[in-house]
Amino acid sequence: ASAAQGSATAKEGWSSRTAFILAAVGAAVGLGNIWRFPTLAGESGGGAFVLVYIAFVFLLGLPLVLAEITTGKIGQTDAVGSMREVARRSGASTAWSATATVGTVAAFLILSFYSVVAGWVLYYAGVHAIELVNAIGRGDPLGGAFGGPGGESVDEIQSRMGNLFGNWQLLLAMHVGFMGVTWFVVSRGVHSGIEKAATILMPIFFVLLVGITIYGAFTGNFSEATAFLFTADFSKLTPEVINAALGQALFSLSLGVAGLITYGSYIKSKGGLGGTSLTIAFADTGVALIAGLMIFPIVFAAGLDPAGGPTLVFQALPVAFQSMPGGALIGFLFFCLIFVAALTSSVSLLEVPTAWGKGEMKWSRAFSATMFALGAGSLGVLSLLGYNELSGVSPLGFWSIFEGLDILDTIDGFTGKIMLPLGVMLLAIFIGWKADQKMLQAETGLSDGMFKLWRFLVAWLCPIAVGLVLLFGLFPGLI
Ligand code: PFF
Repeated sequence: ASAAQGSATAKEGWSSRTAFILAAVGAAVGLGNIWRFPTLAGESGGGAFVLVYIAFVFLLGLPLVLAEITTGKIGQTDAVGSMREVARRSGASTAWSATATVGTVAAFLILSFYSVVAGWVLYYAGVHAIELVNAIGRGDPLGGAFGGPGGESVDEIQSRMGNLFGNWQLLLAMHVGFMGVTWFVVSRGVHSGIEKAATILMPIFFVLLVGITIYGAFTGNFSEATAFLFTADFSKLTPEVINAALGQALFSLSLGVAGLITYGSYIKSKGGLGGTSLTIAFADTGVALIAGLMIFPIVFAAGLDPAGGPTLVFQALPVAFQSMPGGALIGFLFFCLIFVAALTSSVSLLEVPTAWGKGEMKWSRAFSATMFALGAGSLGVLSLLGYNELSGVSPLGFWSIFEGLDILDTIDGFTGKIMLPLGVMLLAIFIGWKADQKMLQAETGLSDGMFKLWRFLVAWLCPIAVGLVLLFGLFPGLI
């Protein structure tokens, strides 16, 4: 522990390497994998997007994951403080820690709308719980949802989303409920809150994921789904698609929001970080692909449009759950799965500013978590009002790339297209050029050859590639 950061209370930390990996995978795997990835892949035409996304994950994402975790492990405190410590030990300007401030603000902003979307999940889990009870009541526990075939019409099923969006009180209740659970976990601390939630929830998540995917493979249109996801049509590769793939790779790996710096700071053990980073990147990408293989067979079997957009999971799948055998049960389990994934991610989002409040402002954990949960919760209210009372409001509508976007999509776009790329670009420059390379090699535990490769990717490829994507994302007219 560093003497510079003398703290009165015992330092919090993970109880084992496995606990850290579960928590980090829990942070990475979330709505990004199960809601955002299929949505983007569907809208961007499938295979080509998937390929670019995977390339970004391993060439840019993986090196950055290692960079963030290493920063946290060296610093042993909140993200801003950790970067300051790395700078101090490297003889670099401590102003570099401002990079982590960008990330911390981004985490707060993402949390605000993440909880709103997770609220939809909560609502749909409830709807499907009722459907399951109804199916059991009909004496048909393995029947479909919504009365089974011949029950509710497709319009009736799909109108639930519109009804939910039109009802701000309901949206608010779900949002508050989800934020409340997130707050509860975070205020209990790293060991008895975050780690405990991850070690209980992540195994449940994987069982559900594999189970529903196998179910989809047998009952859905698996071959059309694999063709869609893995056949690359490069004519679909526009600058927007490349930009979206980068944004998705960063979002999905929880990069650029200081989340992995924060989680890395709770590592107490020595030992290298290369294998751990690889595990996180593989698990996250694997889950995104499996989620695609879980959702698209169902979408295609029901004859639905893969490019359905953000409502794909909420509007399209329930239609499929009506006619599929066991649909009532699977529908309920499916939304439980997304809920679990979203919770372990929102926990990490709230932990970033909470750790900042503890480390930089010397607040207690409980106070810090409460302040930021209330703050992000309040901001989220604007996002959910954007569907009803404030519909038509487009906060950055004057800016061509945000034109016509509602409040939630604007915050999502601003963080994903600008703040995350900016955050990782600055981090890459700092780690690649300013930080003491001997210290980095010792802390990462990489061999000479691997360290050279890592350093090249962080120092050269990340700033240049991310910088270009950022530039063209901001100024689409350049191409
Ligand atoms: N990686 C999460 C997901 O894919 O849903 C989102 C996220 C969580 C981003 C935590 C950033 C973060 F710190």
